[in-house]
Amino acid sequence: MNLEDYNLKHIAIIMDGNGRWAEQRGLDRTAGHAAGEHSLSKVIDWALDNNLKWLTVYAFSTENWSRSKEEVDYLMFFNRDLLTRRREEFNEKGVRFFFIGDLKDKMIPDENKKLMKDTASLTRANKKLNLVFAFNYGSEKEIHNAAYNLARKHFTWLLTRKHVEEHFNDYLYLPQMPNPDLLIRTAGEKRLSNFLLLQLSYTELMFVEELWPDFNEENMKEAVKEFKNRTRKYGGI
Ligand code: IPE
Ligand code: IPE
Ligand code: MG
Repeated sequence: MNLEDYNLKHIAIIMDGNGRWAEQRGLDRTAGHAAGEHSLSKVIDWALDNNLKWLTVYAFSTENWSRSKEEVDYLMFFNRDLLTRRREEFNEKGVRFFFIGDLKDKMIPDENKKLMKDTASLTRANKKLNLVFAFNYGSEKEIHNAAYNLARKHFTWLLTRKHVEEHFNDYLYLPQMPNPDLLIRTAGEKRLSNFLLLQLSYTELMFVEELWPDFNEENMKEAVKEFKNRTRKYGGI
């Protein structure tokens, strides 16, 4: 399948339900995050096989700091561990890594910051798939940050509405990222949880029941099938 034929260039995923998956098995919530790695690598391989150009995954939100210290520490460790173990393999497969979010936050361990930076530069020449990790990401923060940086670049009394309308997107975390065509959220929750609020304005939304660790290529195929049946109208008729 060549997804470009269906105008499907960018899929964004809210990987939810890891905690429930673990709790259903009497395991610690952290075991659910670990189990989610399998789904992520399956989805990346599926994206590579089907010529998807952009895949964005929500890995850690600006609100996730409110979880227990044990869980937050695990999620930070997991991010480092995943990048350390898997980045060579994905690099060889032609995956270019990007990270979006408040990456300078002092709450993020230095080691994570360094690994994310190094992984982005290691893979910068890759062209097959752009893989975006939303890490310490929150839309509100992204928009406030963009507004602040745009204002700082100009004498505000000279700033025109037209300039803001034309250039606001240049100040988002990753201006070259096209808006998602399809958003999938697992685990039955029907909300966006501060994810890409601006970029999802005309995205097709899909909410599936599977918990993230149970999600696989078959679910991706089903989502594409449903996407093909939808009519995108962008306000037209
Ligand atoms: C999503 O799974 C992963 C992160 C938020 C990091 P959850 O941990 O939110 O799983 P549930 O929603 O509690 O089941
Ligand atoms: C969204 O899931 C964040 C990630 C998947 C990283 P949450 O589980 O944190 O969202 P809420 O709290 O259910 O809205
Ligand atoms: Mg959740």
